[in-house]
Amino acid sequence: MARTSPVALSDFGDVLMPAQAMEPILARPVRSALLEWLTEIWAADDLADVGLSPRRRALFFGAPGTGKTTLAHHLAARLGLPMLAVRSETIVDCWLGSTGRNIGSLFAAAKEEGPCILFIDEFDALAPKRQASARDAQQERNASVNTLLQRIEQHDGIIIAATNLSADIDQAIWRRFDIQIELALPGPDERHRILARYLAPYGLPSAAMTELAEAMSTASPSLMRQFCESLKRNIVLGDRLGWDMRRAETVDRILSGLQPHKDLGKPRLWAHGSADRAIGMIPWPLPMANEIINGPVAPDPVTSNVISMGGGGRS
Ligand SMILES: Nc1ncnc2c1ncn2[C@@H]1O[C@H](COP(=O)(O)OP(=O)(O)OP(=O)(O)O)[C@@H](O)[C@H]1O
Ligand SMILES: [Mg+2]
Repeated sequence: MARTSPVALSDFGDVLMPAQAMEPILARPVRSALLEWLTEIWAADDLADVGLSPRRRALFFGAPGTGKTTLAHHLAARLGLPMLAVRSETIVDCWLGSTGRNIGSLFAAAKEEGPCILFIDEFDALAPKRQASARDAQQERNASVNTLLQRIEQHDGIIIAATNLSADIDQAIWRRFDIQIELALPGPDERHRILARYLAPYGLPSAAMTELAEAMSTASPSLMRQFCESLKRNIVLGDRLGWDMRRAETVDRILSGLQPHKDLGKPRLWAHGSADRAIGMIPWPLPMANEIINGPVAPDPVTSNVISMGGGGRS
């Protein structure tokens, strides 16, 4: 339904505060892009002296669970700002005319409430490809997309849009974003660090960690986090619940409860289960990280993440 003013920002989604943010583990190109953008925003006064302003609109794209929301929240925290994570269903409305009005209310509320990052998730749902059609509903949808684009351009705060389905977004819309960052699936080094973070306080000897990271290739960071947290939950609760806590049985129980995303391909670990050689290398019971004497951690390799910054189209 159409909204009646006055409206609060929280009517459009969740307001996330800086203190709740977490730094995602990112490939080097994404980290560099982030640092470049932050530096630009911090240097706004100096840029103004030469007639420039920091770029304000970014599009994050990548598979589910690769850290788009986490990165946007982290960026907001680095700027000391709250972030409104807009829920698209608070905007899109099946009633003719309401979507445009909802978009207007959202941006009016954002202006009213002061500095805040606007994070628009599932942007493909809000701004699908515009299609030529005589049908009222299609014309209405096209008009909503145009309204959204205008409001995004007029807004003088930072806006980050995110999508899993970058191909579904209108090319013209893509060009309205002056920074585009792909959050690709993590490479071997990122997987290693993600596992180490989420297994803590437990840890693995370096060779076992490397093998497990390899067995998780094509897993999203989110799936890796779920695996590690499930393992820790089993270790803490298994005996109390009378579960079979042998290594293979524990791993198979965990894997059967976690489904990799169907579009990302099945990681080796899910294909082999506890028979995977990575599992054979895991000391059991799992040691604490500070009990392990490891070799040095591998340096951060430059991965193949696509990053395109600047006003152009897709790379
Ligand atoms: N790069 C990362 N480093 C560390 N943890 C991560 C990373 N990416 C995701 N996670 C963890 O996975 C979970 C999901 O991440 P997040 O919601 O940011 O992904 P997303 O890309 O926004 O997913 P979706 O497309 O489903 O909205 C979070 O709990 C987050 O902590
Ligand atoms: Mg998200």
